[in-house]
Formats: sequence, structure tokens, C-alpha cells
Amino acid sequence: MTQPDRFLLMGVMGWPVLHSRSPMMHNYWIEQQGLAGTYVFLEIKPGELAPALRALHPLGFSGCNLTIPHKLDAMTIVDEVSDVAKKIGAISCIVVREDGSLFGTNNDWLGFLGNLKQQQPAWRADAGPAAVIGAGGGGRAVCYGLLQEGAPEIRLVNRTRDKAEAIAEEFGGPIKVLPWEERHGALEGVALAVNVTSQGMGGQPPLDLRLDHLPKTALATDIIYTPLETPFLAAARERGNPTVNGLGMLIHQGPAAWKLWFDIEPTVTNELRQIMERSIAGD
Ligand SMILES: NC(=O)c1ccc[n+]([C@@H]2O[C@H](COP(=O)([O-])OP(=O)(O)OC[C@H]3O[C@@H](n4cnc5c(N)ncnc54)[C@H](OP(=O)(O)O)[C@@H]3O)[C@@H](O)[C@H]2O)c1
Repeated sequence: MTQPDRFLLMGVMGWPVLHSRSPMMHNYWIEQQGLAGTYVFLEIKPGELAPALRALHPLGFSGCNLTIPHKLDAMTIVDEVSDVAKKIGAISCIVVREDGSLFGTNNDWLGFLGNLKQQQPAWRADAGPAAVIGAGGGGRAVCYGLLQEGAPEIRLVNRTRDKAEAIAEEFGGPIKVLPWEERHGALEGVALAVNVTSQGMGGQPPLDLRLDHLPKTALATDIIYTPLETPFLAAARERGNPTVNGLGMLIHQGPAAWKLWFDIEPTVTNELRQIMERSIAGD
């Protein structure tokens, strides 16, 4: 763990990376905590992840976050992988230890849960079945989080069924895989519906999902945050469902990273959320 009495260096590695809001968020916390330091964009090509990660220690970095396409590749590069990252199958956060060794873990699932709890304080994972649409890296983190939180049933639907089956097999617990064609009916009686596909993201078509089976009380949430309101969330809001967008999933994994890097937990403020929302709306 780095003591915050030195100039702090952190960053996000990705390719592309300039769309990332992580620097804006972490630099807000550096100022909030009254520390000297900076969080930078690290534009790292896919084949160059290993030398880039090994350079973190000599350059004086405390750690970094990983985004597309590095989350899987990092698993075979770092010196130690947390049990959570092994289970989810991806690393989102790296800690550079004093001796230069690298520890990789995954905080995406904490971000997902933290966002729902802050935005909908009455939400409980054990309130009823959850429908999770999608089974990529984000889907794995969401299923992991919901299971940790005591979800009684997860109806998992993915275009490529094998990926959903793999999650059900690896995670165990009450995950029921349904065929892609049954995604509309999978919403019957759920307390939570989550889009973890890339459908609805800027430049992508909307998620093809009819909401007529979704109970009006069910919480609809998306892990996409560009745009802030996806067509799926807009449709849910228009029919009266409570909704939570994906921005908070990014924000709420931040304090977990700070805890590991510096043993400090910065505060998620409304001001931070507003700054980030304004930035995304201005794109
Ligand atoms: N808020 C956050 O902090 C956060 C964190 C992680 C990810 N995200 C966002 O979540 C989204 C998914 O990310 P990811 O990392 O999980 O990506 P990923 O691993 O590439 O998975 C993509 C998912 O989308 C599905 N999909 C893609 N095209 C589709 C189509 N035409 N029809 C139906 N399903 C389709 C894939 O299904 P197949 O398996 O059939 O290909 C898969 O389930 C991205 O928009 C990402 O930016 C947000």
C-alpha cells in the first residue's frame, strides 16, 4: 500500500481510452482528499499490456484500472489474482505493491451493487427473481454481485447461450439459463431487470426486449452509461418502472480501488455524479 505522503500516480489502461471518465472521477477525489497526485489516461495497445504493467512500479504508480481490451489479458500477467477476479474471469483494478509485484482484482461487481443501493436505497437483491440480459464480462460481474447479495433466482439470457451456460456452471447457485428467444417472457414476475449487453450503447441498436411482462414495480437498470439513458431504460421509465443508469457502477467501484491503493475511501458525492453526467451529456 502506498502512503499518501508522496505524489500519487494512478491511471486507466485501455485501447481506446480517451473516452474513459475514470481520470475525471479519480482526480476529483484527489482534490477532495487534499492530496498531491494525478490520475492519467494510459493508451496501451493490446500487445503491450505486459511491459506497460511492469513499468508501473519504476514509474512510481500506486495502481491502475483496466478497461477494454485488457481485463482478460491481465489475468496471466500479474503476480497474484484475487479469488473474486478468478471467479469473474477479469481484472478491473491493479495494485502495485511496495516490492513491485502486481495484484489484480475486480471491483465491477461492487460498483454494480453500490450504485443500486445508493440510487434505490429500498432495493434488495432477495426481493425476487432477477433477469440478466447478456453474459459478457459485465454480465459475469453482475451475476457474481447478485449471488453475493442473496438473489433467490437469476434468469440469465444471452444471444450466445454457451456463455450463459458457462456462468451458471462456474458460479453455481440459482442461475437459470433461458434461450435468447425467451428473453421477453423472462421478465415475468421479476424484481430486477438488468441489461448487460452492449445493445443501446452509443452507435449500437437498442436492446431488442419487450417490456410487457415486466412488473411495474420492478427496478430496471443498465450497465451502459453512454448514453446515460439507454432506449431500454427510457422504455422502462415511460411505463412507470423505477430505473438506475450505469454511471454509478463506474463511480462506485472507485472507492474500493482507493481502499486497496491507499486505505482511504473517498466519498461519492452528488456533485461528482453531476460533473460526470454533464460531461457525458456534452459528448
Ligand atoms: N458501468 C460500468 O462500470 C461498466 C462496466 C463494464 C461494462 N460496461 C458496459 O457494458 C456493456 C457490455 O460490456 P462487457 O464488458 O460485458 O462486453 P462483452 O464482454 O463484450 O459482452 C457483450 C455482451 O453484449 C452481447 N451482445 C453484443 N451484441 C449483441 C447483439 N447484437 N444482440 C444481443 N446481444 C449482443 C453479447 O452477447 P454474445 O455473447 O452473444 O456476443 C454479450 O452478452 C458495454 O457497453 C460496456 O461499456 C459498463
